[in-house]
Amino acid sequence: MKRATAVAHPNIALVKYWGKRDVALNLPSTSSLSLTLDTFRTRTTVTWGASQDAVVVNGKPAAAKEGERVLRFLSLVDPDRPPCAVETDNNFPTAAGLASSSSGFAALALAATAAAGKRYTPAALSALARRGSGSACRSLWGGWVVWDKGVAADGGDSVSAPLAKRDHWDVRLVVALIAGGRKAVGSTEAMIRTQETSPLYPGWVESADEDLARARRAVLDRDLAALGQVMEHSALKMHGTMLAARLPIRYWKPSTLAVLDAVDELRRGGTAAFYTMDAGPNVKVLCLAADAPKVAEALRAVCGEVAVLGVGGDARLEKGR
Ligand code: PMV
Repeated sequence: MKRATAVAHPNIALVKYWGKRDVALNLPSTSSLSLTLDTFRTRTTVTWGASQDAVVVNGKPAAAKEGERVLRFLSLVDPDRPPCAVETDNNFPTAAGLASSSSGFAALALAATAAAGKRYTPAALSALARRGSGSACRSLWGGWVVWDKGVAADGGDSVSAPLAKRDHWDVRLVVALIAGGRKAVGSTEAMIRTQETSPLYPGWVESADEDLARARRAVLDRDLAALGQVMEHSALKMHGTMLAARLPIRYWKPSTLAVLDAVDELRRGGTAAFYTMDAGPNVKVLCLAADAPKVAEALRAVCGEVAVLGVGGDARLEKGR
């Protein structure tokens, strides 16, 4: 029996991943760029060799589907694995569009491979995490991360790598928490429906490389106005493709729009603040650290709960746990 504990932070994409060229391997149709967050984290302990398979999430036995997903993932590390026990907890809402699957599968990949006594290169670990949840392959690193969509059929080159370190740029992501509940349609189901039925989807795929090139340049140049323009474009375009799916997928709530209005208002008043949204109603607003109190106050006035998050570090193993 061997045990390992890992911690990983969620990441939020500024150039989005939406759509899969291979569903089984979680290979994306487009490359993406993300920012890893601090404060929010998943901590996961894997016991390799337990009396029976068991998955506990936030102190309670996992729901059947969720537990199976975790156990199937462990079998990717070793198809002949022994029974394993997994205990995981998030210090933020799970499956609510706050990227809990990104930190979840990054922490699980790290803890499981360590508990199994296997050595993975960073790229192989990223490819493994990707199998659990696409966005998880970006959460192995802190700071600014690019996930290259890759071209190989086996996904060996569809992995993430750091673009800039945590201390590259002192920004904040102000998260407007609109609803903490579980989302109505999961990201995989929503992506598949979008790519199969949305007439806007081909345009999304065709225009993604240009977005990535612009965003990459803007991050390296610390050009918030340029990054803001492309991140809003990518998020709105992603939601546009899903609004045009049959049946349509709409994650936005009235307060989502109220927050977008508040961001426009901040900008009219001279504060550089730019939004993105994922598979949920929450809005995440990027700004310079010095502007975060002002941005948080403006968002709190329209949505109630706000979290101010900085740039997070790499996923890591915890010693002695
Ligand atoms: O990898 P998943 O299934 O967590 O999907 C992530 C989808 C978005 O969060 C909407 C976009 C992204 O790039 O993270």
